[in-house]
Amino acid sequence: MTGWPDVVEIREVGPRDGLQNEAPVPVDARVRLIDALSRTGLRRIEAAAFVSPSAIPSMAGSEQVMARIDRKVGVVYSALVPNVEGAERAIAADADELELVVSASETHNLKNVRRSVAESLIGARDVVELAHSSAIEAEAIVSTAFGCPYEGDIAPERVAQLAGHLIDAGADRMSFGDTTGMATPRRVHDLLDALERAGIGAARIGLHFHDTRGTALANVLTALERGVVRFDASVGGLGGCPYAPGASGNAVTEDLVHMCHDMGIETGVDLEAMLRCAQLASDIVGRDLPSALLHAGPRTPIRPS
Ligand code: COA
Ligand code: ZN
Repeated sequence: MTGWPDVVEIREVGPRDGLQNEAPVPVDARVRLIDALSRTGLRRIEAAAFVSPSAIPSMAGSEQVMARIDRKVGVVYSALVPNVEGAERAIAADADELELVVSASETHNLKNVRRSVAESLIGARDVVELAHSSAIEAEAIVSTAFGCPYEGDIAPERVAQLAGHLIDAGADRMSFGDTTGMATPRRVHDLLDALERAGIGAARIGLHFHDTRGTALANVLTALERGVVRFDASVGGLGGCPYAPGASGNAVTEDLVHMCHDMGIETGVDLEAMLRCAQLASDIVGRDLPSALLHAGPRTPIRPS
């Protein structure tokens, strides 16, 4: 089979998307996890969120996290921001890149950031300007891009139109989030088709899947075959969204790495080191994580006895 890319870029989102949905863990544990992840070969780590601590208590202390991590040269430490206030905090904390989140669903946007999509779009311009004036990049993330827990189906054309507005606002990169794991390969094709019609090709697209309904890796494979090479994943499969009932973890980083390597696709990630991080993540949150690889072990032959 050909048609797979040679290299993919995995952004590790466990320290943010993962931990935001857990009971708050101490800053030290967050720092330990990020530092361990930065030594696996991952080149992008979503390290923190500069959101309201009353909205997301487990992301309180993100300033301390950013201050205490041992920054590895070549690793981009990004931060999620919902508004200008968050962008100012993230820049003051020396985030390498901002991720501005806007929902394709009006209802989800209102619940998540307490403003309309139109208001978020106006704010997007200010966030991008702020990032650029500090010489860092701003990625725009469209969440609920494959469906919304409140509104159901979201028209791919609406997502593409919103993406167009965010690119007009100056966003350097785009990413599309399957916030509650509603995506299937069919929906991936439909969204990529709509984006293509809007002039947004695979090179500008990153994808963020949750494995709520067991489709995360199937969705990644579909997107790989369409030329997408940027994916979010979380160590151990930590993850969720507090404003999306039923959301569960992201695509599991080590499962994705294992699948890619066996397909001859480079990730730059050391699988053994990644598995140690998954065990650390599990120890930090004090529960078993969905990671298939952590349970099954890597693909080693069983010796006949
Ligand atoms: N970080 C910290 N505090 C913030 C903030 C930010 N990014 N943005 C606003 N605030 C503070 C304000 O300073 C104000 O504080 P005060 O009451 O002490 O004066 C208070 O929050 C209310 O400000 P307001 O602009 O009215 O915010 P809000 O209450 O409407 O909340 C958000 C809006 C965006 C801050 C909040 O909904 C939020 O943080 N959402 C993020 C949700 C999230 O992370 N979801 C998961 C990721 S997809
Ligand atoms: Zn998510």
